[in-house]
Order: sequence, then structure tokens, then C-alpha cells
Amino acid sequence: MRVLLIGSGGREHALAVSLAADPAVDQLIAAPGNPGIAQVATLRPVTATDPAAVAALAVEVAADLVVIGPEAPLVAGVADAVRAKGIACFGPSAAAARLEGSKEFAKSVMAAASVPTARYRACSSPDEVSAALAEFGPPYVVKNDGLAAGKGVVVTSSTAEALAHAAECGQVVVEEYLPGPEVSLFVVTDGTTALPLMPAQDFKRVGDDDEGPNTGGMGAYAPLDWAPADLVERVLRETVEPTLAEMRAMGTPFAGLLYVGLALTPGGPKVIEFNARFGDPETQVVLALLATPLAGLLHAAATGTLASHPPLTWYPGAAVTVVVASHNYPATPRTGDVITGAERPGVIHAGTSRRADGALVSAGGRVLSVTATGADLPAARAAAYALVGDVALDGAHHRTDIALKAARGEVTIPA
Ligand code: AMP
Ligand code: GLY
Repeated sequence: MRVLLIGSGGREHALAVSLAADPAVDQLIAAPGNPGIAQVATLRPVTATDPAAVAALAVEVAADLVVIGPEAPLVAGVADAVRAKGIACFGPSAAAARLEGSKEFAKSVMAAASVPTARYRACSSPDEVSAALAEFGPPYVVKNDGLAAGKGVVVTSSTAEALAHAAECGQVVVEEYLPGPEVSLFVVTDGTTALPLMPAQDFKRVGDDDEGPNTGGMGAYAPLDWAPADLVERVLRETVEPTLAEMRAMGTPFAGLLYVGLALTPGGPKVIEFNARFGDPETQVVLALLATPLAGLLHAAATGTLASHPPLTWYPGAAVTVVVASHNYPATPRTGDVITGAERPGVIHAGTSRRADGALVSAGGRVLSVTATGADLPAARAAAYALVGDVALDGAHHRTDIALKAARGEVTIPA
């Protein structure tokens, strides 16, 4: 099988490693890719958000399967353009990707499908925002209504800060605060059949103990030994199946990766957000544990044959990934710093690039993530942090507490 992977971040590097390891894949092409992906794939330049350009590339390389990593191309209709050429594509249509692209659309689908989620108000004026903040009370949750790369949400107990974020965004969704630990559940679907992957936990705040602003994600681990035994089955029944049915009923079936971001509240799992693609950095840990060949799985989802796909199999043990971020991230990151120690197994490249002289340099906020597996969570943590110590990047920072509470058995669901 010839696979074309679209994207250039850490998620795509993790996908590339798993796709390249699938014996069914004889050629892996990535566009535009990054220096880490170049270790396992042939890179081609492309503007990932240009549907015609990606479709033309898929035809040129005679791809049997196109896998679209990031949300922006999906929202732009790249999957539609590839399918229009008769090529199998893993990734939802533009119409279905609105589950991620518009918070308000996602909320309307959840309401129609009776999916458990936070109550909310869509607001377009300061008066509406003030009324919604008063209705729900603190802590306040104010979300930009559009794609914001994981940074469009402010959670704060300060009314002034909530109002300021709303004013900056214009169109916002104000919602009820959901207490409880967060879980990311990825579901591979062809629109009808849904195969859940292993739940993972992501760390959104920049600093240890969840201090500081939100980021795209600073680390992740799996499995979640503390989660209720019926979690996946319950989320499939209460959230995934009704959502997929509603999308089919609307004439815009969702096929691809449905990322369900949940809070495990005292009232059960409730949806914080949907995304239309694999999460980053959770993908790094989930794929490190997935034994089932990835290309075959994604091809089955892309061709509507998931119902006859064998059950997924997993390696035993645990996986931990720690993100190494640039100086100043998540504010405007400093780039161009030289990176050493990053060309080894387990180092997943996100914001890296090659300088003219061949040196590897930082090129974004989340520069790389370091992934390791182990017999259990403490062993995987120790291995991941040892690997972080081997990477050098001037001014870099990372969290030191990824998976720490879980390793100590301190994650609890509020009663
Ligand atoms: P989102 O972009 O919707 O995933 O939000 C980013 C982060 O903000 C989430 O991972 C949560 O940590 C937090 N968040 C968003 N919505 C809520 C909510 N309703 N209650 C509590 N925390 C939230
Ligand atoms: N890890 C959060 C995201 O991918 O949106």
C-alpha cells in the first residue's frame, strides 16, 4: 500500500512511525513533513490546506490511502477533494469536521443527540456574555467559536479576565465549568462502525501542577488505570454512537478520527470538546501501545469496512510522552535555537526544521516530544524523563510532572 500522510507536527511524526512499521505499507510519503518524519518517509512539499494541491499530489504519487493529520486541512475540505479523485482518505469531510471547527455546531449536534456535555450559551455581544457569566457562575469557561489550536479557551474565576477574553474573540461560547479529571478518547470510525482506541490523559497547562496558561498539550500518558472499568463502553453508548447517528441523519456522516475530550464529573463522563483528528500529544502514547497495524485500520475506516476489521490489540505496559517547548511558549515562542540529541528513537519532532548548514533548529512552540514505554507507568515515566535529559535546546522548558499523580495513584473522580 502506498500511503500519503498530510501534516508536519508531532502527531504526524507519531503517525508516520506507526504507518512505516505496518508491513502492508511499501511506500510512505509525507507532505510537507518535518525533519523527524523524514527519517521514515519521503517528503514532498505541499500547502496542506489547499484541497486542489493535496488532491493533485495524491494522484501524482498514486496513493492508495491519504491520511490527513491536522484539523485545518480537514476544515478546508482537503478530504473531500482527495475522495473526489477516487482515492481512499482517512479524515472527515469539511461538513463533518465542523464538529471541531465550530464549537457552536458541536454543541448543537450534542443537544440534538442528547450527549452529556456542559450547558452553554453562544454569545455575540458583551451583554450576552455578562448574562451568561452570571448564569453559570465561576469558574468561568469562555471559548473562542472557531479553530484556535487549543488556545482559544480561558478558564478563570476573574470576571474581568473572562470579559476581556470574550471581547478579544467577538463570537464566543460561555459554558458551565465541568469538574473532574480529563480524558481523551480517540475513536476510529467509518461513519457507522466505531472502534475506540485506548483512553489517554493530556496535560494542557504549561506548568507543573496545572499552573499557567493553556497550551496545545505538554505531555500525555496511557493507560488510565484509575478510570472506571466501564468508561469506554459508556462513552460509546452515551456519546459516540448518538453523535455518529446524528451526523448520518444530517447527511454529513463523520468518518475519520473522532476525538472525544471528556471530563469525568460526579455526574458521569461529559464532553468538553470534539476534535476531528488525532490529538497531540496523546497520539504519541496511544500509538506507542497499539499493536494492530495502523495503515490497515485507517484504510478500513476510509473505505467503510471497519465492521469486518479484526479487534484491536495492544502491547502490555504503559507509555509516557513529555513535550519539550521553546523559550517563551505558549506566548510567542523563540525559534532558531540549535537542538542536539533529537535524532534517536522515541524523539518525536513537531516544531523542528533543518538550517541551511544542516543543523536541526527549533521552528515552533512545541518543538518535540519524547516518548517511552515501560512495564508500568513509573517505568515509562523514568524512561521518558531520561530521554528528555538527552535532548539539548537552549531556553527550552518541559513539565516535570507528566503522569506523576497517576503513577502515585492520586487521580480521583470527584464524588
Ligand atoms: P477545549 O479547547 O474546549 O478543549 O478546552 C481546552 C481546555 O480548557 C480543556 O482541556 C479543559 O482543561 C478546559 N475546559 C474547557 N471547557 C471546560 C469546561 N466546560 N469545564 C472545565 N474545563 C474546561
Ligand atoms: N491534546 C489536545 C489536542 O490535540 O487538541
